[in-house]
Amino acid sequence: MNEIEKLIGSAQKVLKTNDRGGYTIPTDELYPFQWNWDSAITALGWMKDDEPRAWQEIEMLLKGQWANGMIPHIIFHEEVDSYFPGPDVWGVDQPTKTTSISQPAVLSSVVKMMLESANDQTLAKQQIKHMLPALVNYHLWWYNERDPENTGLVVSYHPWESGMDNSPAWDKSLAAVPPVDWEYKRKDTDLIDADERPKAFEYDRYIYLVEFFKKSNFDAKAIYKNCPYKMHDIGIISILHKATADLIQVCQNILEEDAQSGIDTMTSKGNANHEFTFNRTELLANLDTLKQRHQLTQNNIHQLWHEPLNAFLSQDVLTGEFSEVLTTGTLLALWAEFGDDEQKEKMHTLLQQWLSLKPYSLSSTHPHAKEFEPQRYWRGPIWVHINWLIAMGAQANGFTEVAESIKSSSLALIKDNDYYEYFNCDNGLGCGGGTFSWTAAVSLHWLLYPEAQKK
Ligand code: DGY
Repeated sequence: MNEIEKLIGSAQKVLKTNDRGGYTIPTDELYPFQWNWDSAITALGWMKDDEPRAWQEIEMLLKGQWANGMIPHIIFHEEVDSYFPGPDVWGVDQPTKTTSISQPAVLSSVVKMMLESANDQTLAKQQIKHMLPALVNYHLWWYNERDPENTGLVVSYHPWESGMDNSPAWDKSLAAVPPVDWEYKRKDTDLIDADERPKAFEYDRYIYLVEFFKKSNFDAKAIYKNCPYKMHDIGIISILHKATADLIQVCQNILEEDAQSGIDTMTSKGNANHEFTFNRTELLANLDTLKQRHQLTQNNIHQLWHEPLNAFLSQDVLTGEFSEVLTTGTLLALWAEFGDDEQKEKMHTLLQQWLSLKPYSLSSTHPHAKEFEPQRYWRGPIWVHINWLIAMGAQANGFTEVAESIKSSSLALIKDNDYYEYFNCDNGLGCGGGTFSWTAAVSLHWLLYPEAQKK
């Protein structure tokens, strides 16, 4: 068995270890439930070995979808007590317990990749028709509830929504949120070195926000009006923008294929068996809305360009201030293909410099930032699923050399250090949870579908 075969075999083993019967947990104990963007990316990892299982991953995720279209960031399919905050703290009263916030909407991009790589095209199309109303409603939820004023820039209400929990990009805005006023006991630091996790200052405010959503009865209008944390997160906006473009393409393919036979009613089922249903006319109307929303973002994204740092940055909606720190969130703008030619070239230069600054890359926070810490979660370590998105973004913009370098250095890092949640960018050592699903899934995608990186 050669090195590559070994790497593939061990990645597939990671997914099997984390399989909980239809869905994959990120890793045992630390994250014992189904996470939204983890699971989407992980579905890709199942494709080579077991296509029905890959589609099932997404079906299970959609079981948590709320009637308003939101796909929550965690689906608590069963009770496990190694995680805090659990469903009781979130207080969501649904048959399938969930959190009340979402996560970066990479799902539709993954579905498009799955369709393109599926050997069983009949199964893929059947599955996609079955999930289209759910996916379309998820995107409409982002635009309607998180951008009710049609600015083109959706807002996020919690650092956990970004997936980049303790990124320094949120420091100033999170500091304006009050701390929760009751005692709680974290469980993550019983499992992982506290130096690799967010600090208590941040957790106090994470939990305040969780409680704020509950006290607001999850009322979208009240939360939009009163939430003490409101962010134009460039990572979330970029991932959503690309996923909307991908979803539009998937819908168009399905509609064209079914043009003769005519599309019958499509139905997806979410939480509490809520049905999302479309006929062909409704699908076309929703597709038009998605196209308009996509165009609006395209027109207005220039508002997040920050001339002094030569990058797209996140912005605090409440104060209007930019988060003036470079994090890999800003590089996700390449994945969305945001910017004019000059801005893209500036991002390219930034990316090349960033790659040259540390023995291992890409550090999640720019190494020159004063907040940089090589081992602490989103304040420095390398996350390979972000490398994967940035590499595909670089490739799409024609920056092939940089794309190849990110891919090969990430695979070398994994080969030498195993399937960790994230990696210290000074010494390459694995940090956080081990046996980690998306690290395995991304490796499988890189190794098994090299052509998919070039689309
Ligand atoms: C955690 O608990 O650390 C997660 O990132 C929340 O999604």
